[in-house]
Amino acid sequence: MPETTPFVFNHSTYQVRYAAGGLDELGALADEFGCRQAAVVADSFFLGGDMETRLKEILKSVNPVFHGIPQHEPDTDDVEAARTFMADAGADMIIALGGGSAMDAAKVARMCMSNPGPIDDIVGPVGVTMKPHESLFVCVPTTAGTGSEVSESAIITKSGTDYKLIFRSPEMSARVALLDPELSVTVPASVTASSGYDAVTHAVEAFTSRASGPMTDPYAISAMEKLARWLPVAYAEPGNLFARGECLVASMQAAIAFNSAHLGMAHAIAGALGALHHTPHGLANALALPWTMAFNQPMLGEKGDLVARLYGGETAAEGLSKLRQTVGLDLSLDEFVTSDDARDLVAEGASKSGQLRVNPREAGVPELRAVLEAMRQPTSGLQPNLNL
Ligand SMILES: [Fe+2]
Repeated sequence: MPETTPFVFNHSTYQVRYAAGGLDELGALADEFGCRQAAVVADSFFLGGDMETRLKEILKSVNPVFHGIPQHEPDTDDVEAARTFMADAGADMIIALGGGSAMDAAKVARMCMSNPGPIDDIVGPVGVTMKPHESLFVCVPTTAGTGSEVSESAIITKSGTDYKLIFRSPEMSARVALLDPELSVTVPASVTASSGYDAVTHAVEAFTSRASGPMTDPYAISAMEKLARWLPVAYAEPGNLFARGECLVASMQAAIAFNSAHLGMAHAIAGALGALHHTPHGLANALALPWTMAFNQPMLGEKGDLVARLYGGETAAEGLSKLRQTVGLDLSLDEFVTSDDARDLVAEGASKSGQLRVNPREAGVPELRAVLEAMRQPTSGLQPNLNL
């Protein structure tokens, strides 16, 4: 008799709510949980305009105060500023509204309030326990990408360095993830493409990960299906609310999958490119994924066939190459990394990533270096040719 491979599945978000116009439910949520004071942490461009006015009205029973997260990958200074803001507000309802940066900064800042020692004490994807914070925590994603609204982790740069700190605990999770596709219709096409391709990479890597299993595969498959069909539509027709909604649900499902299945070689490379060359995360994944899937192909089996079918290629890599071209992300690594020495350092950095441990095919520095060399060539939507 075959045996089911042992697996672990973690999911700690208490509730996911989805509705077009659902932002208006924030006031009812505050009342339902008996909150008295709301603190809103948002991408800074949301403040001082219509969104702030609308939130003041929706949340008037809980006297909202606002704090902006600057437009760069959040660092420990941003976290400290958000922590001070939340503590000064005496908030019992904390709302993170925005992309992954705002949500990740808010997640960690909130944990810094209930774990007041040095931030280093709560760094680490494993072996860390965090004390809970009693506030109601609500995440409202405005882009379809990171899925931070349902993941137990956050990534923050150590200020003044290129070093990424990884935080992980179920205590960081949102109690309520509130998904409102109306919030994403104004996202520019380039951001729709890059954040959407990040979600695609989450879904594909979680599906093909060695830690995938019967609790993560259904989420990953649904996310891959929705993104294959609807990301190109959301990219071409920004006002298509149905496409926006499908992408938002898919990015959340992909994050539920990768929260337990973890990721793979593309994220290992994207992490090093982000740290060493500030390559935007979604672009880095788009640069890497067709090539890493070409590398993984010998180990993909039936899962590779399914990815290929969903994305309309002979192989998973070809399908993902096609999607990348459709959404305007068929780029060369040379736009971000320009020398052999620099590519060597990216390979070294990527080789230290924990994501490699679950990649379907074993990869060390030489394999990473060869993939990085190949990434210099755009694929024009065709099969990436990698002789490894
Ligand atoms: Fe990602």
